[in-house]
Amino acid sequence: LPPLRVGVAGLGNVGATLVSILQKDGAELTKKLGRHLVVTAVAARSRSRDRGIDISGLDWFDDPVALAKSDGIDLFVELIGGEDGPALASVKAALELGRPVVTANKALLAKHGTELAKLAENTGAQLGFEAAVAGGIPVIKTLREGLGSARIAKVFGIMNGTCNYILTRMGKEDISFADCLKDAQALGYAEADPSFDVDGHDTAHKLAILATLCFGYELAPDKIRVDGITGITQHDIRVAADLGYKIKLLGIAQRTEDGIEQRVHPTFVPKDSAIAGVDGVMNAIALETDHVHELLLAGPGAGGPPTASSVLSDILDIARGTRVPPLGVPSDELLPYREASVRPH
Ligand code: HSE
Repeated sequence: LPPLRVGVAGLGNVGATLVSILQKDGAELTKKLGRHLVVTAVAARSRSRDRGIDISGLDWFDDPVALAKSDGIDLFVELIGGEDGPALASVKAALELGRPVVTANKALLAKHGTELAKLAENTGAQLGFEAAVAGGIPVIKTLREGLGSARIAKVFGIMNGTCNYILTRMGKEDISFADCLKDAQALGYAEADPSFDVDGHDTAHKLAILATLCFGYELAPDKIRVDGITGITQHDIRVAADLGYKIKLLGIAQRTEDGIEQRVHPTFVPKDSAIAGVDGVMNAIALETDHVHELLLAGPGAGGPPTASSVLSDILDIARGTRVPPLGVPSDELLPYREASVRPH
């Protein structure tokens, strides 16, 4: 097989970790795949910033769209972030050429996923997005491959590591919301604009992607009722604890008799439940199906290494010629979306 030349746009936390893994483990991955896997080109805002990686031997692009179209790559990785702008333009440019794309960009997919999935279908390109939901947890693959014919009744979980980190620390220490958020930012977990985390919109983006895969709908982030955690105080957390609960920010999508309901809000969960035990920057996705009563997938949900590892798993699938799961396959038994009210989980 010819070598697979990877171009990476965006050298933030995840992008720099990915390049470093590909450079360090390239020989081993090549041996495993029987195919040379190599990062050949990168695009980012600053060429000189110290990211702890050596990019001197790589082709440099200021413009991610030019990288996406470059003849020097076979696969385009988008780690720029943002729901429009250069992320959207570069992903489209690659897909239009029929070139495979791997992205961790949940905001982009929540807003433009249907259009991008259709474009990919038309040109035969692959669009990998395992890293867009729940960082290092292979939830997209599990939905596609691990559940057989099971019909999913409900998907819910902790989908934002920053919020879970904040709520966990506030439950253990006498520390303010603002200080916890600052720490989450310093650790590289939070979004560039952390209001996406704490207002619940990042969770809503991920929930929209999961609901599409679980229920066969077109993405509908605007149909999600969203409440974040900015109003949660130490007092709320203590009251919950006294009553035998923890507060978690959950994303929830479920079938109801009159439609699919999607909501994001802080939720009291019984403190001896499995999901209550998922603390810190971890995520957990629970799936309720007619065959498997409740399956809980838990693991690191944010940060460079876990997210880069999911990006890499899509790259490896594509390098092997495996089809990655498509985003949104319309089902033939659609229920309407139902207005979601905040009610007990
Ligand atoms: N800011 C996100 C989080 C990153 O905290 O979960 C992973 O999507």
